[in-house]
Amino acid sequence: MIKDILNKNEKMTPNSKEIAILKEHFPSCFKSDGTFDIEKFKGFLSDKITVTDEGYELKFLGKNYARLLASVDTTTVITPNEEHNSKPENKNSENIYISGDNLDGLKHLLKSYSGQIKCIYIDPPYNTGTDGFVYNDNFDFTVDSLSEKLSISEEQAERILDLTKRGSASHSAWLMFMYSRLLLARDLLSDDGLIFISIDDNENHNLKLLCDDVFGEENFRNQITIRRGAKSVQAQFETWDKLGQSVEYLLFYSRKSSYRFPKQMKPLDEERQGSWNNHWRGTDRPTMRYPLFGITPENGQWRWGKERSYIAIKNYKKMINDIGVDEKSITQEQIDGWYSNLDYECDLLRLSDSGKPEHYIPPTDSTLLNTSWMDLLVGSSSEIRRLFGKTVFETAKLTATLQRIITFADKDAVILDFFSGSATTAHAVMNLNAEDGGNRKFIMVQLPEIIEEGKPAYEAGYRTIDQIGMDRIIKAANKIKEENPDLEADLGFKHFILQEPTPNTLDKIEEFDPDENKLFADKTLLDEFGKPTILSTWLVRDGYGLTAQPEELDLSGYKGYFIDKHLYLIDTEIPNEAIEKIVVKYETDGSFNPENIVLFGYSFTWTQMEQLKINLKRLKDTEKNLNINFDVRY
Ligand SMILES: C[S@@+](CC[C@H](N)C(=O)[O-])C[C@H]1O[C@@H](n2cnc3c(N)ncnc32)[C@H](O)[C@@H]1O
Repeated sequence: MIKDILNKNEKMTPNSKEIAILKEHFPSCFKSDGTFDIEKFKGFLSDKITVTDEGYELKFLGKNYARLLASVDTTTVITPNEEHNSKPENKNSENIYISGDNLDGLKHLLKSYSGQIKCIYIDPPYNTGTDGFVYNDNFDFTVDSLSEKLSISEEQAERILDLTKRGSASHSAWLMFMYSRLLLARDLLSDDGLIFISIDDNENHNLKLLCDDVFGEENFRNQITIRRGAKSVQAQFETWDKLGQSVEYLLFYSRKSSYRFPKQMKPLDEERQGSWNNHWRGTDRPTMRYPLFGITPENGQWRWGKERSYIAIKNYKKMINDIGVDEKSITQEQIDGWYSNLDYECDLLRLSDSGKPEHYIPPTDSTLLNTSWMDLLVGSSSEIRRLFGKTVFETAKLTATLQRIITFADKDAVILDFFSGSATTAHAVMNLNAEDGGNRKFIMVQLPEIIEEGKPAYEAGYRTIDQIGMDRIIKAANKIKEENPDLEADLGFKHFILQEPTPNTLDKIEEFDPDENKLFADKTLLDEFGKPTILSTWLVRDGYGLTAQPEELDLSGYKGYFIDKHLYLIDTEIPNEAIEKIVVKYETDGSFNPENIVLFGYSFTWTQMEQLKINLKRLKDTEKNLNINFDVRY
């Protein structure tokens, strides 16, 4: 299973995927010697698309390298945390927590969830210089192999490798880190999928161009502004070289430009509320909705411009018409009802009995959602303190912010956060489901980043950040259960750990030659990986996802694992009776038709494999006429 991947990876180039797509859809553009006829390709585009050679794009050192990293497959395996996953609250949960590097996590996820994720939120390191971001990786490309794969000079390859090994926090290093991950994330999004990315001034400009590149400029929706807490604003005044940075941003992209978002309201900004209170409502007349402007359009001294005022009068007339009542008998409730059913905001003006214009102020303290989310704070350590008793995580976002983001997607959406930190996103998903009866699921990916000794989290007993994230979910779930004792919602999660095979395992894999090992199976590799790991990794690879539960078959004492189109045989020493039992099951059980039999290659001798193949060939001539595909994985 790793051997196949290592072999495939050797042939990977940064554009392997794109070339495969071109070959599939434009075979006539490829000549027999493999060369690509660009002029012919342009012919396919010319009448609908204007080909531009503007040459405007974001370039950075290692851009192609990042594409290569996105194309090579992960050599990690997925180990389920069996103890955690078998607890009653987690056993049937469809929420997922992955401990591991998100580059590997995303690659595994793509095998099962490609095009299925409705909403991604990420809060990556901002590269502030003090947030600990440094890029380095453990891909061991040599200068030669890299210069060949990327078609670059040896000198350029050396510069890239220097960047990836030295531990760099340059703009190029940060972009390289983000680019490979965003390329993978894009393919996870469904057609109506959305992605929100938190960022601040340090990399905002670069991230915007990078996202235009990855998601397409036409899919950019908005840059949302969120208020920073007083502490982080004040921190800037220590150096007096900049104004206090009081906001940060959420970049918002959709997978397709046809996306239209649902109507959402937000509380009025403090500033705006203040001005309305002061000018129009007044503390002694809190419900007054028709403040007098005092001046008529005719004398030209409107508070608004004439055009806006006339549109507002037109809107008012439209309302009268829509409601279908005489203006004199219209009630406040009718106006409020009409207004709250609008999916846009508009001004309404009418002339009062005395001829003065009156302006309608909506009855609620909310307004249609726009890009100013100043009613929300970026982050909050108090939420964490309330749950944990101390600040075990310092850069947690506010649950309310995440809840607002998540409401852009449907109530049964899968929400992914692959820089999960303290798992605020998972908390928000559970909160929201409890609030509105939704059935959203979450997938969290978090690096098991080591916590330094002496930090409050360390003192509290946590050694890696994923431990904090998982504990947050458990604590939040308990709180939700306490507050909603009758709630029936998925408040558990399944936990998986991504593991790189040990050097010892890799050596064994490398040394193993299937042709030489015809007579004896190698039991040690099964022991090194463990059956649950092999099974979980394969289920994901074959598209069944992380929460699939295959049926365990008892084949005369030998265990097989069956799900839909696959039968997995992993254990060593398959007896002839088990093979016979499989054939009989195919013949007699109408619901048993797996088209693929997958073998853990190391566990089978040549004779056993032949035995299986010969026996299963019999099925070709039966009623089911099955042509079974043998997939021997190493
Ligand atoms: C700014 S924090 C996210 C905070 C989170 N939004 C919250 O509310 O708690 C970024 C997180 O990404 C994690 N991280 C950094 N690189 C990663 C990687 N390659 N894979 C997975 N997680 C990573 C860090 O450990 C850190 O916890």
